[in-house]
Amino acid sequence: MPRTKIALIGGGQVGGNIALLAAQKELGDIVIIDIPEAENFIKGKALDISQLLPHDGFDSKLVGSSDFQEIKDSDVVVITAGFPRQPGMNREDLLSKNLSIMTNVANQVKEHAPDAFVIVVSNPLDAMVYAFHKVSGFAKNKVVGMAGALDSARFRSFIAEETNLSSQDVTCMVLGGHGDTMVPVSRLANVGGVPLNALLSEEKISAIEERTRFGGGEIVKLFGKGSAFYAPAQSAVEMVESFVRDKKRVIPCASLCEGEFDINGYFIGVPTVIGSNGVEKILTFELNEEEKNALENTLSEVKKTVEETGL
Ligand code: LAC
Repeated sequence: MPRTKIALIGGGQVGGNIALLAAQKELGDIVIIDIPEAENFIKGKALDISQLLPHDGFDSKLVGSSDFQEIKDSDVVVITAGFPRQPGMNREDLLSKNLSIMTNVANQVKEHAPDAFVIVVSNPLDAMVYAFHKVSGFAKNKVVGMAGALDSARFRSFIAEETNLSSQDVTCMVLGGHGDTMVPVSRLANVGGVPLNALLSEEKISAIEERTRFGGGEIVKLFGKGSAFYAPAQSAVEMVESFVRDKKRVIPCASLCEGEFDINGYFIGVPTVIGSNGVEKILTFELNEEEKNALENTLSEVKKTVEETGL
């Protein structure tokens, strides 16, 4: 059986770290695509990563190129291409610049890797994954956005820090759009099965929710230029792994809702089962009034950005 082929569109900080982490998990052979001006740089990255693999005893072939033909017949495509945020910007400010990039990428992926499972990471996430789906015409189970995995990982890490308990035992989810209106569902968060509200005061929980909502912005501010990359890369790799190994993990992802949570026709963060068929299922459950309102609010923000795409 041939190895899984993973194409990374965009070889910047997020793409480069996805290549590293995916190779270290031996998820498959990896092709990194970037613009011609960056071709030598990504060829260098591919070579550099190839040369650390002997330490792990893992075999992954890595290639860097600016030629989309190299992604031919990829099983998975992860798109990180586009401009990152700078201080003072929100993710929505990137829309017009990144929409034309996404349109081109969608056409190229459609031509060269029509059967791939596609994970979109570029921002503004909920609009970019919508745009990819519209332009490519891919089936809804083949297109998903990476956001909730990252936002939930941030939420988990803040809970672990505040409770001084292992992040490994923290279970929680963030639903909704990948913007400041995202919905950390504290009611369902727990550490080793113990409800979060038995461990932390309401004030502390609210503060963690707030920090989660602005988790990406906190890093943009610290960096002074560009946005986070290590945790975003690992979040995308978890999704790739669940697909490649048919793990059927339940990960909050921007999936196309058609009635789930009363949402119709939009990609937004919902608990998603990822397996060898891509998005295999969206898991739904009863929200309380406050959560319903918060989800409606985040949906209206997502709708605004999607409408701006004109698609
Ligand atoms: C973040 C970017 C990747 O949240 O959206 O850090």
